[in-house]
Amino acid sequence: MNNEIDDFYSIAPMMGKTDSFFCHLMSFINQNTKIYTEMMHVETIIRTNILEKYKILKNLSNIVIQIAGNSPESFARAAKKASMHGFNEININCGCPSKNVIAGDFGLSLLKKPRLVRECIESIKNEVESTVSVKTRIGINYNNCENLLDDFVNEINLSGVNKFIIHARNGILNNMNTKKNLTIPPLKYERVFDLKKKFTNNHIIINGGFIKTEEIIKYIKKIDGIMIGREAYRNPWIFHKKRLLNIKEKIKIIEKYILSLKYYFNKNTFNKNSLIHIQKLLNGHTGAKSWRQKVGLVHHNKDLQLLLNYIKYYY
Ligand SMILES: Cc1cc2nc3c(=O)[nH]c(=O)nc-3n(C[C@H](O)[C@H](O)[C@H](O)COP(=O)(O)O)c2cc1C
Repeated sequence: MNNEIDDFYSIAPMMGKTDSFFCHLMSFINQNTKIYTEMMHVETIIRTNILEKYKILKNLSNIVIQIAGNSPESFARAAKKASMHGFNEININCGCPSKNVIAGDFGLSLLKKPRLVRECIESIKNEVESTVSVKTRIGINYNNCENLLDDFVNEINLSGVNKFIIHARNGILNNMNTKKNLTIPPLKYERVFDLKKKFTNNHIIINGGFIKTEEIIKYIKKIDGIMIGREAYRNPWIFHKKRLLNIKEKIKIIEKYILSLKYYFNKNTFNKNSLIHIQKLLNGHTGAKSWRQKVGLVHHNKDLQLLLNYIKYYY
């Protein structure tokens, strides 16, 4: 059964980070944590077998698939395929400011095109019964005008979608790279809290700069939830119900994950991405460096048994 913390905190979509293996790893840390997958473009979903990767997960009920695009028809087709693969919540990316994404006219560009987003959502809803949510930022470039986001929420609300995830900083287009767009535009939490005051019936989740999962009391009256990105990847242990685990407890979880990979790769092609997520998981503990080296080695020789033996011998 989920507890209050599982419902309040979630893990942000992150390209190259929240892939199927990370979601699988998290199922050993806390199977109730809501995780948003890395962004997948509608056409990739339609034309490739990218969703097959998620078959490693027995249960997708806590996994939200994040989809990007700008064509209502393609959104419907991608949503149908996602639903057939077992995803029952879809998140639409309206917040990515990267050059390629903006050139493709999706991501943060869509904050300026609420009517189109509404059409995409309606198209999805005609095809599947999945829950739909939207992730965006508080604004574009150096513009502080509140109307942009308010008008966006008003229009999307007409589609019946209720849930918004708001990254509490503007996205700067054209002359700022993606990494800087995660640090330079200042965080403005008050803007998101004000949005919640204006749209009391909406479920609004704040994102940007959070590093703890112990602040419900501080925020519960201001907002419906907190989404954590970089810190969730760096230190996913904060989502474990115990919060502070000793090294033995962590190793036990990692061992279960590796055993499950061993079983999975008996029938599926080895994928080194499965190991990247555990390489730094013991940072801060004695032996972290040799653990990183061992994982690095297995990354190349694909011999998971080597890691299991190492765990048995040293821990
Ligand atoms: C490596 C990386 C990849 C990201 N990829 C995505 C993505 O695919 N979709 C998305 O909506 N946001 C993406 N983001 C933004 C995060 O979801 C989040 O909004 C941002 O990191 C701020 O939260 P944080 O301060 O807790 O990290 C990415 C961020 C990082 C660091």
